[in-house]
Amino acid sequence: MSSFVIEAAGLSRSFGSTRALAGVDLSVRTGESLAIMGASGSGKTTLLHCLAGITRPDAGTVGFVSGAGRVEVTGLGERERSRLRREAFGFVFQQGLLIPELTAVENVALALMLNGMPRARAEEHGRGWLAALGLAGMEDRRIGQLSGGQAQRVAIARAQVTGASVVFADEPTGALDSATSADVMRALLDSTTGQGRTLILVTHDAEVAGRCSRIVDMRDGRIVGERVSA
Ligand SMILES: Nc1ncnc2c1ncn2[C@@H]1O[C@H](COP(=O)(O)OP(=O)(O)O)[C@@H](O)[C@H]1O
Ligand SMILES: [Mg+2]
Repeated sequence: MSSFVIEAAGLSRSFGSTRALAGVDLSVRTGESLAIMGASGSGKTTLLHCLAGITRPDAGTVGFVSGAGRVEVTGLGERERSRLRREAFGFVFQQGLLIPELTAVENVALALMLNGMPRARAEEHGRGWLAALGLAGMEDRRIGQLSGGQAQRVAIARAQVTGASVVFADEPTGALDSATSADVMRALLDSTTGQGRTLILVTHDAEVAGRCSRIVDMRDGRIVGERVSA
């Protein structure tokens, strides 16, 4: 059995008088695909953001374990967390948050260039990832010239290109029809758990969640159930 890559304990977070997280313990294994489900407002996004070091919890700890050892994410300052997110994590959101003025390959290469890679090499890597996600021939199109599913694959390529060991996705198929959603999920799983990496995603969609190896259900800021898929 593989080891944990994310270990969270006792996570709480309030926004004013709203208790978004009310004591969550959650550990995620390397190579696992975990779906976080629950009604709107149940705390899914807040949990994802705490695990990924985007939001700091009021209480509790998040650890990230890699070959280099264990990093206490919740103990890091803003700059160190930002660096960890850039280097070790990848992100896919509902609307891919791609830059419309840039082409597909430029959007992907940007993630590498932010980590200091020269443009030519970054674009070469970017083309490789786009091809792996079935977008060969579309590298030089702007985002507006792609379908929703194609744009979401560009977002997946961008999340993977830096070699992220954990990919966090918040409603990655939320804006897609069910056939496209199935294609995007396949691409997302192939490029993460298919390569020994870890996927943590938030979804409303039971079909999307059912493709993941484990599902946790949230209600009122707590994990209230857990299922393991076949
Ligand atoms: N930045 C914020 N400011 C104020 N309230 C927030 C903020 N983020 C989340 N909340 C509140 O916290 C609760 C959980 O939100 P969220 O984690 O986004 O839930 P979900 O993703 O399950 O819909 C909700 O009541 C939401 O309104
Ligand atoms: Mg949300």
